[in-house]
Amino acid sequence: MKGLILSGGTGSRLYPLTYSNAKQLIPVANKPILFRVIESIRDAGITEIGIVVGSTADKIKEAVGRGGRWGVQITYIQQDQPLGLAHAVKVSQDFLGDDRFVMFLGDNVIEGGISPLIAQFAESEWNSQIVLTRIEQPEQYGVAELGEDGRIIRLIEKPKNPPSDLALVGIYMFDANVFKAVDGIKPSWRGELEITDAIQWLVDHDYRVHPYIHRGWWIDTGRPGDMLEANDLVLEEIEYAIEGYVDRDSQVGRRVTIEQGAEIINSVVRGPAIIGEGARIINSYIGPFTSIANNVTIEDSEIEHSMVLSNSRINDIGTRIQDSLIGSNVTISRSPIKPKALKLTLADHSQVGIL
Ligand code: TTP
Repeated sequence: MKGLILSGGTGSRLYPLTYSNAKQLIPVANKPILFRVIESIRDAGITEIGIVVGSTADKIKEAVGRGGRWGVQITYIQQDQPLGLAHAVKVSQDFLGDDRFVMFLGDNVIEGGISPLIAQFAESEWNSQIVLTRIEQPEQYGVAELGEDGRIIRLIEKPKNPPSDLALVGIYMFDANVFKAVDGIKPSWRGELEITDAIQWLVDHDYRVHPYIHRGWWIDTGRPGDMLEANDLVLEEIEYAIEGYVDRDSQVGRRVTIEQGAEIINSVVRGPAIIGEGARIINSYIGPFTSIANNVTIEDSEIEHSMVLSNSRINDIGTRIQDSLIGSNVTISRSPIKPKALKLTLADHSQVGIL
């Protein structure tokens, strides 16, 4: 089997973070989502992986390389425009050939333990396997309606009146018949070739599409709140280790990772939390569900349930930061210059909540 990861797209719902970076490279618990996806595929025993890239191709290639670090071989597939998930399959036909494959969305985070599912498909006679999960607001996703015998009746993309609460998770398995499907469908009202339409085509043409219902958590990290939620869930799953320096005046909780070269000085860190390589936490409080990336400095400040990306600096701001997603190379500090006022330099689409 081969693996296919979709890492093109625009990421517009995550502006301004995705002006300067690919959405799939945003770190959740200090590891890019895309790296977690590569590891899931590798753990299923797959070594040939194609990554579909779009306008952020250079960033993705620079971060991922040729795959040697994971023991896999990466092939990049350029998609000139984000014309839909089924379009991404179409442009990958040369890479996939006649092999069965698993396709992952490069911005989805799922609870571990999906290798058996992929192995099961590899050995089955099904033409496709889709993964469904029960969610509260199915109208934002592709939704499946199953018959009493458990077979798929139909799939609908973002339905106004969902026929069930079973949403399509961003993991799909196919054999080469999917190419007939992607050639047989037309773009939807939003101008995209939809993967739900391709799967519906397979169902309508009597191919065997097996629905698997996933019981663990799954997050599609389209919006900032989703990123924080994924960060919460992954922080609870990781293994904790103290590899950096903690001084005697600091208190570090049990479920905390301090990476190499990080320093905790006269501070409190409550887990689950992670502090990245080279980060410095001085006279500060880091609360639960917080990821501090590499080379961040936090001084005389309090922060919890937040993500701070690499090389940012937070210094003496006099109020606790909470529920926040702060990008790379950001500075938040008290200004010594009068008048006493907020002085902001914010990128387009930034959001600031003031007390
Ligand atoms: P989406 O989240 O549906 O789209 P997007 O990344 O363009 O985001 P937004 O709606 O905020 O602008 O994409 C899901 C995943 O699939 C994501 O990793 C990007 C990838 N993708 C492609 O590779 N090619 C495509 O044509 C599309 C639409 C998405």
